[in-house]
Amino acid sequence: MDLHLKGKVAMVTGASSGIGRESARMLAAEGAKLMLVARSKEKLDAVAAEIAATFKVDTAVFAADLTEPDAADRAVAATCAQYGRLDVAVCSAGASANGIFWEIPDEVWEASFRLKFMGTVRTMRAALAPMRDQKSGRIVVIAGNLGRQPLPRGLPSAFANAALLAVVKGTADEVAAQGIFINAVSPGLTRTPRFEERIAAQVKATGKSAEQIEHDMTAPVPSGRVSEADEIARTVAWLASPVAGHITGTNVTVDGGHTKGVT
Ligand SMILES: NC(=O)c1ccc[n+]([C@@H]2O[C@H](COP(=O)([O-])OP(=O)(O)OC[C@H]3O[C@@H](n4cnc5c(N)ncnc54)[C@H](OP(=O)(O)O)[C@@H]3O)[C@@H](O)[C@H]2O)c1
Repeated sequence: MDLHLKGKVAMVTGASSGIGRESARMLAAEGAKLMLVARSKEKLDAVAAEIAATFKVDTAVFAADLTEPDAADRAVAATCAQYGRLDVAVCSAGASANGIFWEIPDEVWEASFRLKFMGTVRTMRAALAPMRDQKSGRIVVIAGNLGRQPLPRGLPSAFANAALLAVVKGTADEVAAQGIFINAVSPGLTRTPRFEERIAAQVKATGKSAEQIEHDMTAPVPSGRVSEADEIARTVAWLASPVAGHITGTNVTVDGGHTKGVT
């Protein structure tokens, strides 16, 4: 299906790895011009080179730590300086440590708040400035299925995801009349470098094999497996496109049925 993204300008945060990287690739495959944002310029340059060679689209990078208060504004300014506009913002920068509630120190909660929550809020706010001038734009926030179904050992992720779902809905209602549509995508367990690190840590801690740990993790997932990053990215590209039409303020869960309930 043609998503009508050819020539659109898309900024993707967390674009050097995992879901952000796959989302950037999917947008490039549809012909979008890219601004890739993360901290490591070296990793961004490698991803940008691969995307530009594969999809023959304009690809630029902006290295920034999105926990810094002005980083999102600078990333959006760089995008507009490079391409003259901003049509799509995908917010995928994030990483939360988790654990047993009474063992999680304040710093872990604060880090999740600073990066996943405030990094995303600031990216949304920065992206809305050119989008409001243009009277068009689409923002896709990568939240996570723990936001609707908190698991006891994943609460620093869960609270940030839940808070972002609230911000997505409220902000979407604020700007819908201005032609700007905002939605969330909530992945469940997804194979990315972050996921592989989790598996490796558990191999070390338990002595079990990686296969056994993944099997145990996916036992409660009705599909019986983790998602691949490109399965999340396809949903992201669709919601970032005009093909998603009138959809705004919603959350699409991509988790093989892991989240219980009917919505
Ligand atoms: N994988 C899963 O199972 C899963 C499930 C549910 C939700 N999610 C959510 O999906 C999003 C992406 O996760 P992922 O698994 O794709 O992670 P990942 O592979 O570790 O990628 C994270 C990306 O964020 C960037 N990043 C990290 N800290 C940053 C900072 N301070 N400033 C700017 N960029 C930063 C990283 O690059 P640098 O390190 O170079 O900055 C990298 O590009 C996260 O928000 C995560 O919570 C993932």
